[in-house]
Amino acid sequence: MYRFVFTQLLSRIDPEDAHHLTVGALRLLSVTPVVKRLVHRRLAPRDPALRVQAFGVHFPGPFGLAAGFDKDAGCVEAMSALGFSHVEVGTITAHAQPGNARPRLFRLVKDRAIINRMGFNNAGASAAARALSRPRGVPAVVGVNIGKTKVVPEAEAVHDYVAGAKELAPLADYLVVNVSSPNTPGLRNLQAVELLRPLLQGVKEVADSTPRRTPLLVKIAPDLADDDVDAVADLALELGLDGIIATNTTISREGVSSTEPGGLSGRPLKARSLEVLRRLRARVGDRLVLVSVGGVENVDDVWERLLAGATLVQGYSALIYEGPLWAHRIHRGLSRRLRRHGVRDLREIIGRTAT
Ligand SMILES: Cc1cc2nc3c(=O)[nH]c(=O)nc-3n(C[C@H](O)[C@H](O)[C@H](O)COP(=O)(O)O)c2cc1C
Repeated sequence: MYRFVFTQLLSRIDPEDAHHLTVGALRLLSVTPVVKRLVHRRLAPRDPALRVQAFGVHFPGPFGLAAGFDKDAGCVEAMSALGFSHVEVGTITAHAQPGNARPRLFRLVKDRAIINRMGFNNAGASAAARALSRPRGVPAVVGVNIGKTKVVPEAEAVHDYVAGAKELAPLADYLVVNVSSPNTPGLRNLQAVELLRPLLQGVKEVADSTPRRTPLLVKIAPDLADDDVDAVADLALELGLDGIIATNTTISREGVSSTEPGGLSGRPLKARSLEVLRRLRARVGDRLVLVSVGGVENVDDVWERLLAGATLVQGYSALIYEGPLWAHRIHRGLSRRLRRHGVRDLREIIGRTAT
């Protein structure tokens, strides 16, 4: 059914228009209490074996929606109802900004990939805080991903992230410092340890001061050299962060024909994303929560990431190709596989193939 809608309708219209159409429909679902609750009852993960606890937060399953889909926290309830165990909203910047000029979103259908250079288009931290303050009709775990406002110079980046964190940390189940998007000039320089340390320290102070102490994670790029991945991991441990999200989109164009500028995601990212996860696990063991994202398409991918040491797994690009039942299918498949292997608790398999 979705394949038909995709080939006959969505793939024929501009990708960003298709996205807005989808988000509009999802918002409609979010404001329809009865339907929303019915969908949630039908599609959200309910198998106790799928439950995960990470940094003190209970997740109904391991598979969530990666940042970038719900930039303004407008469809948290709808995406939770559709079966995502958590929704990472954002990237949200302290100040509203329009993002880059269109076109800025490209489908690479044959490669099962996406290229985007959105540039953190969002309505800003105050608008997101208002959206996140509204009472919800279905349970949802919400991560808030924050980034730097484009016009703010690198020297004032800490102040800008801290401003965003102050508004949003109290409303987040976990907070993510995004220093890895390729579409804000200079942003990825912040991954260098000497710049990253004061930034994470500043945001952590804010996250630690909320009534529940908001868990803090950092999201990294797949294009970091292996030594830099290790350096960020060591820093995260040193500062007492809760976890690392790996990875964001890549600037590499290996294996795809398009040379469109921006960040590449989806299937071509799978191998490097898994490689970074394995490296992180080897470095930190279970001292940090590892969230794996990049090229995840199906149950096999999620299974592989869990075995390699991820406690949570996220996806975005394959949603475009798989449709609204994607997360539900993944959790259902995972549930069956756990039963087949006699696993009653996901903790039994997390990191089992890690070295
Ligand atoms: C259109 C689009 C927009 C994105 N925007 C963001 C963003 O604002 N912040 C962020 O941290 N990641 C963003 N991402 C990256 C995803 O969260 C994810 O890390 C990446 O796409 C790899 O996962 P995937 O292969 O499952 O898509 C975006 C990805 C896409 C496709």
